Amino acid sequence: MKESIIAPSILSSNFGRLTEEVNSVIDAGADWIHFDVMDNHYVPNLTIGPMVCESLRKDGIKDFIDVHLMIEPVDKLAESFIKAGADLISFHPEATSNINKTIEKIKEMGCKVGLAINPETSTDILKDYLMDIDLVLLMSVNPGFGGQKFIIEVLEKIKLVRSMIDACDKEIYLEVDGGINMDTIQSVANAGANVFVAGSAIFGSDNYANTIKHFREKIS
Ligand code: DX5
Ligand code: ZN
Repeated sequence: MKESIIAPSILSSNFGRLTEEVNSVIDAGADWIHFDVMDNHYVPNLTIGPMVCESLRKDGIKDFIDVHLMIEPVDKLAESFIKAGADLISFHPEATSNINKTIEKIKEMGCKVGLAINPETSTDILKDYLMDIDLVLLMSVNPGFGGQKFIIEVLEKIKLVRSMIDACDKEIYLEVDGGINMDTIQSVANAGANVFVAGSAIFGSDNYANTIKHFREKIS
């Protein structure tokens, strides 16, 4: 498992030039592409679906696509995203009627799976699923929009989940999503995260490569 993964969230990119934006962040040193899917139902915002993921693949993007589903229900669209080329699908457990079934379905199709936990949701739920998943996504803002302020209380949750993961002798990514920038990334890393999602801090910067380089310096 790579030590630190930088995953720019394309939510803050220019969608009119999406392939170019994705290529730019990859050239700038990003590891994964974080793909935020919102349905105006589970969250009060609407973004992009599997066709856009498929288009990126058709445009030659070969990099790891980390799909974050903020939708309800989950199963059908998860399947469409896997067919469209997703490498990992995270979903919010409260958005599906049968968590085990959703996890199994995603894995059966050969895709990695993650569970996404909102700032107000307890991490207790993870105990039952940790052995079955590849990633825990801890939200450090309320899902729905980019550019929000990092919720500082989530740092304790990151530490808690880090100890849960370390106790289970299995490689599981610990991803943190929301409000990550030059001021917050170091404490997120110190708390135990190893996948760092950043939307506005990367796409809102003038030089993606410099921003990613400075991120890596902060977390090394
Ligand atoms: C929020 C999304 C995030 C968002 C992060 O619901 O899940 O991935 O794009 O954006 P920033 O980094 O701007 O907080
Ligand atoms: Zn996200």
